[in-house]
Amino acid sequence: MFLDLLRQRRSIRKFTGDAITSEQLQQLQEAILRAPSSRGLDPWQFIFVTDPEVITALSKAKPNGAAFLEQAKLAVVICADPERSDVWVEDCAIAAFCLQLQVSDSGLASCWAQIRCRQHEDGQSSEEYVRQLVKLPSTMRVDSIIGIGVGDEEKSGHDCELLKWSRIHDQSYSEE
Ligand SMILES: Cc1cc2nc3c(=O)[nH]c(=O)nc-3n(C[C@H](O)[C@H](O)[C@H](O)COP(=O)(O)O)c2cc1C
Repeated sequence: MFLDLLRQRRSIRKFTGDAITSEQLQQLQEAILRAPSSRGLDPWQFIFVTDPEVITALSKAKPNGAAFLEQAKLAVVICADPERSDVWVEDCAIAAFCLQLQVSDSGLASCWAQIRCRQHEDGQSSEEYVRQLVKLPSTMRVDSIIGIGVGDEEKSGHDCELLKWSRIHDQSYSEE
């Protein structure tokens, strides 16, 4: 059941050194390409990085929250051409989460590293830093990087009773 996948899913930032199989890689690539996009414009591009040196460099894209990428076997840079769609951010986010759900279903683990709106250490934006590393043209925007590998951390899914049920509103937000 799909809900079971969501019940177990967590962000994992520690990975073993084990390899991702070619079958798993194929599943990840198919899943991300099946993401829906506004008007079917598919403005995104996905850079699958497995070179450890480039992955290490990507882990330095921002001072906090990207270091976990260094241990990942695969880093998927999610980017888009904003000229192709005014809602490229939403399209990228949906693609990223499709990928993360397939990661879980394939028995792997992942975590999102936010790149858009973040700064690299020396005043350069994280987007600009990543753009240079993966040779993107300056017109392309970078949304995020998903770090993927075999998980080396056990986390239980969020307790159903502890979900923010109060965020669900019946018919309207305010009762007045
Ligand atoms: C849009 C978005 C941006 C995120 N950015 C980062 C990030 O830069 N670094 C990081 O370690 N985790 C990042 N995360 C993971 C969140 O911290 C994580 O999903 C949240 O704490 C809930 O934990 P869970 O995924 O295990 O349920 C991001 C998640 C989302 C959805």
